[in-house]
Amino acid sequence: MQKKGILDFQRMKKEGEKVTWLTAYDYPTAQFEERAGIDMILVGDSMGNCVYGYPTGTIPVTMDQCIVHTEAVRRGAPNTFVIGDMPFLSYQTTPDDAVRNAGRFYKEAGVDAIKLEGGRRVTKMIRAIVDAGMVVCGHIGLTPQSTGQFGGYKAQGRTAKSALELVKDARAVQEAGVAFLLIEAVTPEVGKFITEDLEIPVYGIGAGLHCDGQLLIVSDVLGIWEAFQPKFVKRYAHMAEESVKAIQDYVSEVREGKFPTEEHCYKMIEGEAEKLMELVQ
Ligand code: KIV
Repeated sequence: MQKKGILDFQRMKKEGEKVTWLTAYDYPTAQFEERAGIDMILVGDSMGNCVYGYPTGTIPVTMDQCIVHTEAVRRGAPNTFVIGDMPFLSYQTTPDDAVRNAGRFYKEAGVDAIKLEGGRRVTKMIRAIVDAGMVVCGHIGLTPQSTGQFGGYKAQGRTAKSALELVKDARAVQEAGVAFLLIEAVTPEVGKFITEDLEIPVYGIGAGLHCDGQLLIVSDVLGIWEAFQPKFVKRYAHMAEESVKAIQDYVSEVREGKFPTEEHCYKMIEGEAEKLMELVQ
């Protein structure tokens, strides 16, 4: 399949064609996603939960970790639009930090775009990154790096007043130059309004059916991440259960002497086993 770019995503919005988007953190998963025909991959800082198991989620994730995982994903999916996710405090500090760290994703990991969280309070950083020639994806709604301020992983914009704040954020980041926008954990009404209000493509994770495309975390989709299941997640496989079952089977077969069998063993060159016996006498 031909690699898609921002012009395709703009056309798809106009034509009502949905964009498919998943996270990936490693080479084999990126290969699976590319083979399955996904449109975009996010190397999310959700790796803090899904890969590293940090009790505080995305907060401890560093630029170096993001770069290493993004490089691996890029190698696994060379023909897919890959987005690097800017971790906590890699852009909130100053526009200079934001440009330097966004640039690392481009120079060291070969991304097609970067994503950062926040609305009006990060427009200075968005402008600086866009002015430096990079493609930015905005992210508003439930932004995991600020869950402390939200009092946890809670749906956003459920009252008219708070929904209006999200609309203002969406308009502000579009004005600042983001190429597309992700909205997380809002009601379908808010997802629909923002999708129709903005000219740029608007994608949702837990934002209802009306967005221009959908993102999910691959560990949720495959049933690898079991610690909690947000309302918007649909599991398409149960890999955690299947993995434990496979490992239990392996453990039993080794203990019972059932593995390895002949089909898993190398063969000596004809006659060499007998020669060895003579040599070791
Ligand atoms: O890091 C990530 O995977 C994300 C999603 C939760 C949207 O930002």
